[in-house]
Amino acid sequence: MYTITDIVICGINGSNFKYCGENMDYEDILTELSTLLSPKRLQHSIGVSKTAVEMAERFGGDKVKAGLAGLLHDAAREVPIADLLPRAQAFGIVVSDIEKAQPILLHAPISAKLAEIKFGVRDAEILQAIFLHTTGSAHMSLLDKIIYLADVIEPSRNFEGLEEIREIAQRDLDKALLLALDQSIFYILEEGGLIHPVTIEARNDLLIKQRTLVLQTT
Ligand SMILES: [Fe+2]
Ligand SMILES: [Fe+2]
Repeated sequence: MYTITDIVICGINGSNFKYCGENMDYEDILTELSTLLSPKRLQHSIGVSKTAVEMAERFGGDKVKAGLAGLLHDAAREVPIADLLPRAQAFGIVVSDIEKAQPILLHAPISAKLAEIKFGVRDAEILQAIFLHTTGSAHMSLLDKIIYLADVIEPSRNFEGLEEIREIAQRDLDKALLLALDQSIFYILEEGGLIHPVTIEARNDLLIKQRTLVLQTT
């Protein structure tokens, strides 16, 4: 079961601290995060963090990295829409036409930058999981999958089909992730939105691996 001592950070001191895996200072992170996020979004982030820790425990992932990535994944989610593109460009983030048309997608790479710069996270796996949490990608790591899925199923979420994803996430991470990606793609299609190509790549990659596994076992 998750406790705040599962989140460990060392040397928090302005922008001069680094992730090291011991000496928890969870409260400092929450205090800093509360200057960036509304109470509702902060609750969501805590929910993602807790869910990610539980999933890491279930699937043999790193609970500390999962908890921290979950907590920080939406650090830039409340940056005003008009500021996302200039902020991304200032950080040197490569911006595609899809992201120019739907700048909200940029909150993920910008959150990864904030995790690095503002919260001192130096761990590449954590930063990548935050970076990919909205779109997914082909060849996702265990941590990438956990954060993507925890964002979808954390306790405050509520949408049709969610219970099925939650139930599958109890035993089969890839199957739950595939279903979550399908749901996301269906939703975007219904809304007439743009589907990011890496989301398609994420789904294709999982399907190919799943089918290869079936072929190997038959
Ligand atoms: Fe997000
Ligand atoms: Fe989120």
